[in-house]
Amino acid sequence: MVKKNTCVFISGQGSNLRNLIFHSRDDKFPIKISLVISNNKKAFGISYAKKYKIPFILINTGNQDYENKILLNLKKYKIEFICLAGYMKIISSNLIKNFNNRIINIHPSLLPKFKGLNTFSRMLKKKEVKAGCTVHYVNEKLDGGSAIIQKAFFIDVNDDEQILKKKTQKLEYRALPEAIIKIFRNF
Ligand code: GAR
Repeated sequence: MVKKNTCVFISGQGSNLRNLIFHSRDDKFPIKISLVISNNKKAFGISYAKKYKIPFILINTGNQDYENKILLNLKKYKIEFICLAGYMKIISSNLIKNFNNRIINIHPSLLPKFKGLNTFSRMLKKKEVKAGCTVHYVNEKLDGGSAIIQKAFFIDVNDDEQILKKKTQKLEYRALPEAIIKIFRNF
């Protein structure tokens, strides 16, 4: 199998990146992580790129030419597929056009519910029954592209934000690899 050259965008902990690195070591897993992009120089996730010798670049979204830097590097590393894994910035419409239907994101809610930030506190406030995660294609609307996979669990009365995050991320570590396998199954 020829693995798809993939770039993972991160902003923080990078636990989903770490999980994808492990999965991508399997010959049968459809992607190779060829590049990591972070908008945060202090993101812990960068340490995984270093540890596993994956090229990484830092971008400053405050700089005018940051988008060019992204596009140039995606070209340089022959990137064919993009995975947003805890990337907390909006992707430009130019990049979306360049990678039409080849950018996915993992979001910590059962979309279309709770788009955007602070999902867990809003869920608790609204006394939601279920929480979960969604892997979806990225389009121009925030957290609005079509869903590929969702995984859900019932919220317990004792669940606080921290516990919800933990339970959600546990599902994310299964959802993201499964979504990637599903996408490339027919390629
Ligand atoms: C993940 O739980 C992901 O769902 C969320 O950020 C976390 C990153 O964790 N993404 C968003 O909220 C996107 N709006 P990680 O850095 O440990 O993978």
